[in-house]
Amino acid sequence: YEIYLNGMTGAVPRLPTDLTRLEELTERRLGPGPVGYVAGSAGDGSTARANRAALDRRRIVPRMLRNVAERDLTVEVLGRTLPAPLALAPVGVLSIMHPEAELAAARAAAAQGVPFTLSSASSTPLEEVAAAMGDAERWFQLYWARDREVTRSFLDRAKASGFSVLVVTLDTPLLAWRPRDLDQAYLPFLHGVGTANYFSDPAFRAGLAKPPHEDLNAAVMHFVGMFADPGKTWPDLAFLREHWDGPIVLKGVLHPDDARLAADAGMDGVVVSNHGGRQVAGAVAAADALPAVARAVGDRLTVLFDSGVRTGDDVFKALALGARAVLLGRPYVYGLALDGQPGVEHVIRCVLAELDLTLALSGHAVPGTVGAGDVVEA
Ligand code: FNR
Repeated sequence: YEIYLNGMTGAVPRLPTDLTRLEELTERRLGPGPVGYVAGSAGDGSTARANRAALDRRRIVPRMLRNVAERDLTVEVLGRTLPAPLALAPVGVLSIMHPEAELAAARAAAAQGVPFTLSSASSTPLEEVAAAMGDAERWFQLYWARDREVTRSFLDRAKASGFSVLVVTLDTPLLAWRPRDLDQAYLPFLHGVGTANYFSDPAFRAGLAKPPHEDLNAAVMHFVGMFADPGKTWPDLAFLREHWDGPIVLKGVLHPDDARLAADAGMDGVVVSNHGGRQVAGAVAAADALPAVARAVGDRLTVLFDSGVRTGDDVFKALALGARAVLLGRPYVYGLALDGQPGVEHVIRCVLAELDLTLALSGHAVPGTVGAGDVVEA
């Protein structure tokens, strides 16, 4: 109601409350390279479109007269109590969007009480992001480097900086075929953007003849060579389990059998995700993969979801399809591009306010009562 009350004085929000308009506004604001990188996806974009279509196809069937006067959005996720079933997804290279990059996004998440997931490929070293967040909830996303010492060093640093949950992204052992970036020959990493955690890492620097600022080219090539490892298999997870004593979540799981393997490997959760349609062109829509994964491991693992979430009602639908909580990707990145920390806060608050209203208007006082019977496939 704050927005309406402000409206009585003639003050309207600085950014639209229809978050689906943010992409178009960002496109107008920034050059084609950065926006192409963020908005773009793999192949002809069909996976990203399928993500949206799969959510749009599900329609909420509201229930009436169920006393929703007092609502409580808190949920238990991976042993912690979150104020709502929402966290910010890991997104790398945020400095291409805004000079304050991850610091602005992390501060916004902290101010709104939602967990911030910091990408391995951030443009700000993890220690600086942690320092900006006080004791607010933060998760660290690992791109699982080829080099064991670098991986171990990342885990040690993340732990020492108060990151509680390790999110291991499995769907990016290689960067996918992304025509918008290919056509513009735009890859931020090749300019050293998104390498802050690596260039500041002692184990990484041990592999260089000269410090990164003295030979950027060699440092970037070293980064490209170790960034990820397509040779990894399920037994390799034992190394991470051994070196991380908090919850581990595998991001990018779409097949129920992979979810079972995650549980067998002692993992704590999965993120059902196709990386926002940026990796496998032609992949199953994440929302279409979610119910089978939830059925397979819902009693053994915490099932999280991302890819295509734009609004509060999308969050509701993800809960109905079996997710415990949802990660938000591109919308907060557009909020960041358009208005820095306040822009990210605007996006979070819009999603949470809409979720709260969708729950109430659909007959739910808490997220936990939302289930398969609350949506139909149209
Ligand atoms: C991402 N994503 C991502 N994931 C990850 O694990 N590590 C990363 O560094 C990045 N970087 C990244 C950059 C950009 C520009 C985008 C758009 C996405 C994927 C992200 O975490 C999430 O899975 C998707 O963004 C979810 O889809 P939506 O909400 O953007 O449709």
